Amino acid sequence: MSRTPVVGGNFKCNGTVKFIQEHAEVLKKIENNGVEVFVCPTALHSSLLQSLMAGSHVEVAAQNMYFQKPGAWTGELAGELLVDAGIKTTLIGHSERRRIMGESNEESAKKAKRALELGLKVVFCIGETLAEREANQVDAVNFAQLEALRLITVEADWKNIVVAYEPVWSIGTGVVASPAQAQTVHESLRKWFAEKVSAKVAQEIRIQYGGSVNAKNCAELSSCKDIDGFLVGGASLKPEFLDIVKILGDTKKKM
Ligand code: 13P
Repeated sequence: MSRTPVVGGNFKCNGTVKFIQEHAEVLKKIENNGVEVFVCPTALHSSLLQSLMAGSHVEVAAQNMYFQKPGAWTGELAGELLVDAGIKTTLIGHSERRRIMGESNEESAKKAKRALELGLKVVFCIGETLAEREANQVDAVNFAQLEALRLITVEADWKNIVVAYEPVWSIGTGVVASPAQAQTVHESLRKWFAEKVSAKVAQEIRIQYGGSVNAKNCAELSSCKDIDGFLVGGASLKPEFLDIVKILGDTKKKM
C-alpha cells in the first residue's frame, strides 16, 4: 500500500479549556504506527492545543478558513492568520459549512485554492445528503463538489489535498456507511480523478471516509482498498480515537 493512511479528528464546536488540557494527555499517547494524525479543535483552542501537543505525533489543524486576505471580515479567519499561527492543514467545505452556513461548491473551492496558494494542505470534504442518495445522485453530487475545485487548480495541487468523503446522512447520526457503500463511492472518486485529472493523482490521492466512525466499525472500513483513513467527529473527543488510529494502521500494514 503506497498511500500513507491518515486520520483526522474534527472537534467541531466542542471543548472547554479544561477538556482540551485533559484530552491532550490522551492524544499524546498516539504513537507513530504509520498513520498520519491531525486534530481540528476550535480556533479558540488551537494555540493551546498546539503548545500541549508540541513534539507529539499529532498535528493541530484548522476546521475552516476564509479566502480573502486579512482585513475587515468580522468573525472570519484569513489563511495568512493560520499560517502565522503555525497551522499547516485546514479542513475545507465540511458539510456543516456547506449546508448550515450555505457555503457553495464555488466558495469551498475558492477557499481550498487560497489555502493551497498559501502553502497549506487541504482536507476537502464532500458528500451527498440522504435525499440525493435516494435520487441516485451520489456520484453527480460528489463529482460536482470536486469539479468546482478542479476547475481552478492544476494537477500538482492535488498532492496537497486529501479528500474526505462524508455522506451527510451518516454524520453524527450513528448510521455508518457500510464498507461496501463507502468503498463503492471511494472507487468512483478514484475513477473520476483518473478521467478528469490524471492516473497518477487517482492512484496517489488519499480519500478518507467520515460519518459515525468509531472503534467498533473502523476495522472493516479500514480493510477497503480505496479507503485511506477517516475523518472522525464525535469519537475524536473520546479515548477511542486512539483505537481508531491503531486499528487503521494495523489493518493497512497487513494489506
Ligand atoms: P461524526 O463522526 O460525529 O459522525 O462526524 C463526522 C464528521 O463530520 C467529521 O468531520
